[in-house]
Amino acid sequence: MSWAIEATGLRKTFGAKVAVADLSLRVAAGEVFGFLGPNGAGKTTAMKMLLGLVHPTAGYGRLLGYPIGSRESRRWVGFLPEHFRFQEWMTGRELLDVHGRLHGLTAAVRAERIAALLAEVDLADAADRPLRTYSKGMQQRLGLAQALIHRPRLVFLDEPTSGLDPLGRILVRNLVLRLRTEGVTVFFNSHILSDVETMCDRVVFLKQGRIIHETSLRDGFAPELHLTLDAVSAEIVHGLRTFGEVAQTTDREVRLRLTAEAEVPNIVRWLVGRDAAVYGVQVKRPSLETLFLETIGPDERAG
Ligand SMILES: Nc1ncnc2c1ncn2[C@@H]1O[C@H](COP(=O)(O)OP(=O)(O)O)[C@@H](O)[C@H]1O
Ligand SMILES: [Mg+2]
Repeated sequence: MSWAIEATGLRKTFGAKVAVADLSLRVAAGEVFGFLGPNGAGKTTAMKMLLGLVHPTAGYGRLLGYPIGSRESRRWVGFLPEHFRFQEWMTGRELLDVHGRLHGLTAAVRAERIAALLAEVDLADAADRPLRTYSKGMQQRLGLAQALIHRPRLVFLDEPTSGLDPLGRILVRNLVLRLRTEGVTVFFNSHILSDVETMCDRVVFLKQGRIIHETSLRDGFAPELHLTLDAVSAEIVHGLRTFGEVAQTTDREVRLRLTAEAEVPNIVRWLVGRDAAVYGVQVKRPSLETLFLETIGPDERAG
């Protein structure tokens, strides 16, 4: 397996404040990876450590095989910062040109890529206006183009949809899906969980600087089975535990968290074999939002 990102025991403290406690993760080349968590969880600090912009207190890592912090590790990496501040006297086209020159692209290649990227982020009409006349959303879209100018193999996007309206969000989604088809690895975080849900192959949840949960979104989440029986005996609960985690019981209802939907017919067969009277069988899939609230906990809901 070729890893785009590897991190082992990354930690960052600011004085007594632990921003990232102990981060270990691996992201495969070509994966679209979501990095979720409440405000202050350490997402930005973790990204900046991977990018070599913040020096880790402990731990190590590699980007595309090169040690984090090294020049080589950044060569094929793109980054949209959370709090970007572009030179506001420049035009959008000039900003992209500067970044293209920093990457050593020839004038002909820059001209071609800049035109294509401006069109993709819907800024072709605004390209020759100074950035001070851009809205937050327009600057963010320009930031995306900036992150892609050198055709990176790995892209870090820190809250790429935060300043965007629904059309802008669709634009980002299409862009990420385009990158995915091209095999580019995308590591990003967003508060808009429905966006994350449609884009990511895998997500981790970060809380107080630690990964507390990881889930694959490729095949949807583990479904939940809601069963209604005439009566739920201790024996039935015990038997159902061999199929999955029993989430909740009333005298007539059982909820089971399954590992796969293919278990459903087996469970029904098992129940019928035990002469249980089955009144209801419902398969439900939690949304990423439900999973987030369950994982992060109600104490974080207001943040
Ligand atoms: N330069 C810094 N100095 C002191 N504390 C910081 C600094 N950067 C981040 N922090 C703190 O570290 C924690 C994690 O911050 P951050 O990585 O920005 O979280 P997130 O991106 O998940 O919202 C927060 O409590 C934040 O206040
Ligand atoms: Mg942040």
